[in-house]
Amino acid sequence: MGMYKMGLKICRPYQSICLLMFALAIVAPRSSFGQEPKPSQKKVADRKAAEKVEEDPHQLPANPGTFMGRAIAPVMSYLGADWLLRETREAEEQPEQMIDALSLKAGDVVADVGAGVGYTSVRIAKRVGSSGKVYATDIQPQMIRMLKSNIRSMKLEKVIIPTLCTATETKLPSGEIDLIIMVDVYHECSNPIETLQGLKKALKPGGRLVLIEFRAEDPDVPIRPEHKMTLAQARKEVEAQGFKFQKNDERLPWQHIIIFQKPE
Ligand SMILES: C[S@@+](CC[C@H](N)C(=O)[O-])C[C@H]1O[C@@H](n2cnc3c(N)ncnc32)[C@H](O)[C@@H]1O
Repeated sequence: MGMYKMGLKICRPYQSICLLMFALAIVAPRSSFGQEPKPSQKKVADRKAAEKVEEDPHQLPANPGTFMGRAIAPVMSYLGADWLLRETREAEEQPEQMIDALSLKAGDVVADVGAGVGYTSVRIAKRVGSSGKVYATDIQPQMIRMLKSNIRSMKLEKVIIPTLCTATETKLPSGEIDLIIMVDVYHECSNPIETLQGLKKALKPGGRLVLIEFRAEDPDVPIRPEHKMTLAQARKEVEAQGFKFQKNDERLPWQHIIIFQKPE
């Protein structure tokens, strides 16, 4: 069954407005937004946001800052979840070809980190079968709720384990995972060091970490710059945390498939 048939729990009257807003947030240039707040207003807003994050680890940071010379992208809110199931996605991202590049086998234990509503998790679940496992994690409780409902409707509860994580704790079991995939997620991680160290701990020795990222080297990929990454930047950040670069597969039209390995 296609993912486009999955039922989303978003209020219908607001759905098209939300979808349009969040599609614009990722696809449109910055100039299409309203006026920037004045610096004094922005400072107060940033401080309030920082205080909120301390209170609630699932609150999204208003200003995620930079990491190793790269602007960290704001997290894509659950209000834009319909964009993850847009009709053009299959042609743009070719999810089955992407999964072919991973050479998964039945029985593998996989983590889909930043799973959103489960677009990739359900496809991977079919590859690893009932003897395998897919931990599907996300920092937004609302995404996890939609993911759970989708898994139920596709009868994949025995294979997919929905897991609410935080920006600093992956909530994955230690040393159990064969492969971790992050589809259009890593560039949004507000705490990349903690996230990468947590993912390394969760992998088996020799296990793989795969980043799917829109190519920043290609100006024709119609995605906002902070939601894209170059191969060089991804390698710089991930190798600094002790991963070995294995290869970059370029079979997809818009995205890198960057494969790293946890040393044996
Ligand atoms: C652009 S969406 C992609 C969702 C999904 N991977 C897909 O391709 O359909 C990015 C997702 O990553 C999640 N996310 C952002 N930072 C995260 C982190 N540090 N750990 C886990 N999930 C994160 C967001 O909440 C959001 O659901």
